[in-house]
Amino acid sequence: MEKIITVKELQEKLDKKEHVFILDVRPIDQRNEWKIAGSYHVDAYKTLNAGDDTALDMVELPKDSTVVTVCAAGRTSLLASSLLQRKGVKALSLEGGMKAWNYAWNTAQIEFPDAKVIQVRRAAKGVLSYVIGSGSEAVVIDAALDPDIYLTIAQQNGWKIKFVMDTHIHADYVSRTRELANASGAKHLLIDDAKVAFHFEGVKHGEKVNIGKVEIEFIHTPGHTWESTTFKLASYAIFSGDTLFIDGIGRPDLKADKVEGAEKAKALYRSLKKLLSLNSDPLVFPAHTSKTVNFDNQLIADTISNISSKIDVIDLTESEFTEYTATRIPPTPANYELIATLNKTGSYVGHVLADLEAGGNHCAIA
Ligand SMILES: [Fe+2]
Repeated sequence: MEKIITVKELQEKLDKKEHVFILDVRPIDQRNEWKIAGSYHVDAYKTLNAGDDTALDMVELPKDSTVVTVCAAGRTSLLASSLLQRKGVKALSLEGGMKAWNYAWNTAQIEFPDAKVIQVRRAAKGVLSYVIGSGSEAVVIDAALDPDIYLTIAQQNGWKIKFVMDTHIHADYVSRTRELANASGAKHLLIDDAKVAFHFEGVKHGEKVNIGKVEIEFIHTPGHTWESTTFKLASYAIFSGDTLFIDGIGRPDLKADKVEGAEKAKALYRSLKKLLSLNSDPLVFPAHTSKTVNFDNQLIADTISNISSKIDVIDLTESEFTEYTATRIPPTPANYELIATLNKTGSYVGHVLADLEAGGNHCAIA
């Protein structure tokens, strides 16, 4: 009998909306860090490892769908699926566990009069990247997955990738933008004063680049990081990175000391004011969502006006805002500094991405 299911196989089942009962058997603290959307949880880690045959007896299993068991790396989940199989249940263990599921992805899309936006979502971590196509050209923003995925999407839509760019130097995942630039031959664009060690083509605040029939404007929005930039697609949409989310605001990033933290908070305040006062009420496409991404093909985006009505802090004065953010910056996870350093150098040779990138994201203010 089959024992395991790969990430790719499970992703395909969910994409096809097949009914699968996903049973997460990890300890609760690991579950709270990140999970598979729609999964059921039972903290059976200890009992399964102790060989207790009743470890999963309390779970009410559906009669007619496959059970997929999940743990951190795919070892305890194998005990769980074997136990269920012995009891006559059709159960498979997710190979590689959450560490492998980190690279599961899905898409959602929207068409504007002369451009199409495809949102590419890393399901577990809520990392969002984008392919924007117009005519026969495309740009990829915040590439976060294997370059082949973006190349295939572009090819399926009849686009050649002309530009690749990041909204900022990410700290929670390793950017694949440079790799994608190399694989596609696209130009790597960044705001001109970005402090990175690799070659890129600098673009100034207010400058525009063209793909197909549309223009994309660079709006420098420092605060989350100093080089943070928002890309504005015609009057339709903005790609706001970690500056503005659909239900919250970014955090001044990474080990900013008190003085730098306050400077970043001030800059963030001004950047948010700038974005929230954009007319034409564009759709906001952020670089992250705080929730686990469903396989529902629903865009994670909202209009500026809807977001403004949800974010009270923007009504504070600049000094109140600075004080507010200072008390709410969550601790920086240990590996974030290393990831940011790798993203500044543009190479992750010698590092295992699945280890570096494990865990949920912590980009918003708590
Ligand atoms: Fe970030």
